[in-house]
Amino acid sequence: MLEPLAHIGRDQKTGGYLRDAWSDADLELREWFAGEARRRGLDLHEDRNGNLWAWWGDPSAGRPGVVTGSHLDSVRQGGAYDGPLGVVSAFAALDLLKDRGVTPSVPLGVACFTDEEGARFGVPCMGSRLLTGALSPEKALGLTDDDGDTLADVMKRTGRDPSALGRDDETLAAVGTFVELHVEQGRGLVTEGRPVGVASAIWPHGRWRFDFHGRADHAGTTRLADRDDPMLPFARMTLAARQAAERLGVVATVGKIRVSPGNANAIPGLVSAWLDARGADERAVRDLVAGLAGTASEVSEESWTPVVGFDAALRDRLARVAGGDTPAPILPTGAGHDAGILATAGVLSAMLFVRNPTGVSHAPDEHAERADCEAGVVALADVLEDLCR
Ligand code: GLV
Ligand code: MN
Ligand code: MN
Repeated sequence: MLEPLAHIGRDQKTGGYLRDAWSDADLELREWFAGEARRRGLDLHEDRNGNLWAWWGDPSAGRPGVVTGSHLDSVRQGGAYDGPLGVVSAFAALDLLKDRGVTPSVPLGVACFTDEEGARFGVPCMGSRLLTGALSPEKALGLTDDDGDTLADVMKRTGRDPSALGRDDETLAAVGTFVELHVEQGRGLVTEGRPVGVASAIWPHGRWRFDFHGRADHAGTTRLADRDDPMLPFARMTLAARQAAERLGVVATVGKIRVSPGNANAIPGLVSAWLDARGADERAVRDLVAGLAGTASEVSEESWTPVVGFDAALRDRLARVAGGDTPAPILPTGAGHDAGILATAGVLSAMLFVRNPTGVSHAPDEHAERADCEAGVVALADVLEDLCR
C-alpha cells in the first residue's frame, strides 16, 4: 500500500519527500486517502480543520469510537514512513480485522491529521491543535508560509473555508481512544531486537524564532569596524545553544535560517533563525531558551508542547497485546505526534512504534523493513480488536 504513494512529492535527485500541507502533493495524498476509504465502504468526512476521517460504523450514534491513523504531510526532504506508515497500517489493520471476521462493538475510525510537521507554517500538529483548541483559529489564520501566503489564503485556494477553523467538540467526541502507529525515530527497537514497541512519553518541546537585526551594506567596501553584521550574533547563538544543550542534558537544533536579503556580496540586514529545543526535563529546556534570549533582537515562541505521559493502563495493555509472548518494549520519544496533542486534550491515547534499522528520521534514510511493517499491522489489528471488543 505504500507503493502507490512512493512517487508523490518525491524529489528525484535526493529521494526525499516534499509534502507541505495543502501543496499539490498533499492534495494528491488526501485524494488517495479518500479513495482508500471509499474502496472499503467507509464513511469519509473532512472536518472543519482539514483533518480526514474514515469510519467503519457510525460515530454519531452516541458511542465514542476507537481511532487509528497518523499524517501524510512531511518535513522538507523527509522520509517515506514518518506519517504514511501510520495511515497505511491503519487501513491494513482494518482489512485484517475484516478478514478475521471481527465485528467491532464500537465505531472504528482511520484519521489523517493535517499539517503534522508544521513545515509550511511553522506550527506542528496544526490539525490536531485546532481540533482540540490548543491553537486558536486567529493565530493559525495569521501564520504565513515562505511565499508570504497566509493559511487563510492557502485554504481558500484549495476550496476550504478558513472561517470554519477552530475547536470541534463534535468531531472530538467521536474519538474515545486514539492509537497512532509510527516508524521509530531512533534505534531503541534495534537495541531491543524487537519489531514493535509502545510509547511511554513524549518530551516537552518547542520552536522559537530568533531575529537578529543588523545593517545591510557592501561586503567589499565596508570596514570591519563599521559593520553591524547580524550573522555574527546568530553564529554565537547557535554555538551557545549547543553548549547549553550539552550542559543541561537536552537537545537543541537550528535547522532553518532566513538571511535577508541574501546576497553573497552584501552584509545581511536581518537573520532569522529557528531554534528547536527538547528534553526530558521541561525546566532544562526552558532554561536553555531563556539563556539564549539576550543574543537576539527579538525572540518569539512559535509553538510549545508540554510533556505527554501516555495513559499507563492503556500503554501496558498495548504492550501486552502487541508483544505476543513477551510484552513489547516501552520507549519514550523526543518526537512530537498528534497522539500527544490528543492525549493533552484528555483523549485516551497511545502509540505503537515500528523498528527503524537506520534510526534516521526526517531524512531520506528513514526506513522500515517490510516484515516489520507487517508485524506493525498485525500488532495494530490485535490492539484494535482488543479495544473494540
Ligand atoms: C515531528 O515529527 C517533530 O517531532 O517535530
Ligand atoms: Mn515527523
Ligand atoms: Mn510523524
